[in-house]
Amino acid sequence: MVKSKIAGIGMYVPGNVFTNDDLKQYMDTNDEWIQERTGIKERHYADRTGETTTTMGVAAATMAIANAGTTAQDIDFIIFATLSPDYYFPGCGVLVQRAMKMKEIGALDIRNQCSGFIYALSVADQFIKTGMYKNILVIGSEKHSFGLDFTTRGRNISVIFGDGAGAVVLQPAEKEGQGILSTHLYSDGESAELLAMYNPGTHANHWVKEKLADFDDAEIANMFMSKLMIDNAQNFPFMDGPAVFKKAIVKFPEVVQEALSVNGLTTKELDMLIPHQANLRISQFVQQKLGLSDHQVFNNIQKYGNTTAASVPIALYEAWEQGKIKEGNLVCLAAFGSGYTWGSALIRW
Ligand code: ACO
Repeated sequence: MVKSKIAGIGMYVPGNVFTNDDLKQYMDTNDEWIQERTGIKERHYADRTGETTTTMGVAAATMAIANAGTTAQDIDFIIFATLSPDYYFPGCGVLVQRAMKMKEIGALDIRNQCSGFIYALSVADQFIKTGMYKNILVIGSEKHSFGLDFTTRGRNISVIFGDGAGAVVLQPAEKEGQGILSTHLYSDGESAELLAMYNPGTHANHWVKEKLADFDDAEIANMFMSKLMIDNAQNFPFMDGPAVFKKAIVKFPEVVQEALSVNGLTTKELDMLIPHQANLRISQFVQQKLGLSDHQVFNNIQKYGNTTAASVPIALYEAWEQGKIKEGNLVCLAAFGSGYTWGSALIRW
């Protein structure tokens, strides 16, 4: 069966850079706390009105399409991963189709948060393998800055996230042994509420009340979104940081090991691990657990923060652009996040 290969990559980050010190104007925080716990020094925020999740995705896609030596009109399927879509519905994929003046092709949005790009890549891989499509555009993009609580109340989450986009074009691989060797996708919904944004939603307190005492709010049971919910900051993401940390440092190494062993390979043969840029401490734990050297792991969260669905393609682009990924290299992409969902993709470049 034909394998799929990444024929082109691109990335985009907005021009506005916010250092840790810049965040002090909104909340009680400091550079030392943020760097010590997360490794982040700065992040980029989109222009409030001039940029959206889709426009950033289009910018990254334009670069990926050019690097693949193809055109927007030749793309035959779009997969867009994001947790911060322009609209609640329709998804960003159709907005890309319109903005890039593409043919009337299929467009699929993926809502798997931090592992969204790995899920999207895996879906694209299956379509290429079966011969259904030959030129698939896969985008991960986030405009987090629109949905964070920039007060001291929300500082444990807001300092972590940044905006940006990454994209790849997947095509059938021509060379024997080249391309995506395998993908591995998982979920465990038991802790779905520990890293989540509950509202707007249709849950009507069905799941949340049992798990989180401070969601005992009668109004929440009646409306999709209300003023009271906004007043009570229930329209912002919730994260139990320590719980996420504990699960991530188990599942990340597990899914990387699985990718290698299924293909009869070991960590010694791995040229580059691109982990989802959740938190530098998580990446360092994963590196240590897998016994990888600094040359075998790529991190850039220091510059961009956590860009969720965009973090893997942004890191992949930078590693490739800096010449750290070359033809023939063994590259593993891995992610863990909200859901929980996690996954990996092993690629012979
Ligand atoms: N600046 C200064 N102080 C802060 C900040 C901040 N930005 N945020 C929280 N604090 C304070 C808290 O108020 C608290 O103070 P207190 O002890 O006086 O009450 C103290 O720091 C500790 O707060 P915690 O919330 O317990 O912070 P924790 O030590 O757990 O660190 C962190 C938070 C960094 C999120 C950590 O839990 C972690 O690394 N979790 C992993 C999850 C993660 O990284 N998620 C990323 C996104 S999810 C993903 O991509 C998978």
